[in-house]
Amino acid sequence: MTQYNIAVLGATGAVGQELLSILVERQFPYAELRLLASPRSAGRRVAVGGRDYLVEAVSAEAFQGIDFAFFCAGGSVSQCWAEEAVRAGAIVIDNTSAFRLAPDVPLVVPEVNGEAALAHRGIIANPNCSTIIMVMALKPILDEAGIKRVVVSTYQAVSGAGFAAMEELRRQAEDYVMGRELEAKVLPVASGQRHYPIAFNLIPQIDVFAEDGYTKEEWKMVRETQKILGITDLPITATTVRVPTMRSHCEAVNVETERPMSPERCREILAQFPGVKVLDSPEEQAYPMPQFTSGLDEVYVGRIRKDPTVPYGLNLWIVGDQIRKGAALNAVQIAEYVTRQMG
Ligand SMILES: NC(=O)c1ccc[n+]([C@@H]2O[C@H](COP(=O)([O-])OP(=O)(O)OC[C@H]3O[C@@H](n4cnc5c(N)ncnc54)[C@H](OP(=O)(O)O)[C@@H]3O)[C@@H](O)[C@H]2O)c1
Repeated sequence: MTQYNIAVLGATGAVGQELLSILVERQFPYAELRLLASPRSAGRRVAVGGRDYLVEAVSAEAFQGIDFAFFCAGGSVSQCWAEEAVRAGAIVIDNTSAFRLAPDVPLVVPEVNGEAALAHRGIIANPNCSTIIMVMALKPILDEAGIKRVVVSTYQAVSGAGFAAMEELRRQAEDYVMGRELEAKVLPVASGQRHYPIAFNLIPQIDVFAEDGYTKEEWKMVRETQKILGITDLPITATTVRVPTMRSHCEAVNVETERPMSPERCREILAQFPGVKVLDSPEEQAYPMPQFTSGLDEVYVGRIRKDPTVPYGLNLWIVGDQIRKGAALNAVQIAEYVTRQMG
């Protein structure tokens, strides 16, 4: 079996760490593994698959001889190093928003538009975490009944903002219980002017604001979904909210379809779609929740019901571990897809 040399840039972060364990779990055939981060973490040792690896500071030389470079260190870091890695001969699978909307960069969820990956010119973009989770449920609905409009509200876990945000929630929860003042430094946006506590709170801002009053996260869900589904004018509107859960994003999605689809048929087609599980039984109070989907690969859908206010419409509740399917797992699946085609 062909073995590939792999680099993970951002190897010490939330996505990077998950990616390393997924490579081992799925027995991705790697020979060499290079763990890259900033000079802050250079020299640290990280165990992967029972072996100890030294973390190196990213450099141009680090990409020599690499077949797949997984980038998970932030948009500006990708902007800085992606071309360098491609010049060295690597295929870059980028988890950041740096190249997602570039016309010559495929934006890929393998179950939805895997074949798009094959048109890459060195860089393949991994979509935004909330986008991936939503399109996994939208694709089978689109294929069967057409989609006229989508309205989505998200409930996004703190791990979506990395290790620092997880640590902030943990610390604030302890301080809250102890009656101490809550200190906020990371959310909603670490580099922003104002920070708010997330413990026992909700923050209706993810990423920075655009001029029209929407946040960049909201626009990512709109534009990326349109690109992945190949319908550039599909009407989608989003409200994205940070909630005090550790892991697994949730989304309340209203879908207006072109043609009729019953909730029963929707359950059937979603259950058949690879990577999706239906958990939807009101009589047993069975529906997906972030505590129970964390660490799992599948996207879960429940609360499927008819929207009686439009001719043909459905409401769905979608939940998925955004560090796995929303980031690291999807990235590894892209690499697996490409290697299958390479033979
Ligand atoms: N968390 C999610 O659910 C999620 C989902 C989808 C996409 N993403 C995207 O994935 C990226 C990483 O997110 P994360 O949540 O894993 O963040 P994180 O936990 O904060 O980790 C950031 C990683 O990037 C490295 N890094 C930071 N600045 C660097 C630099 N100048 N040069 C080299 N390495 C640098 C850090 O290394 P040091 O240890 O040296 O600081 C660390 O390994 C972001 O673009 C994020 O938007 C995240």
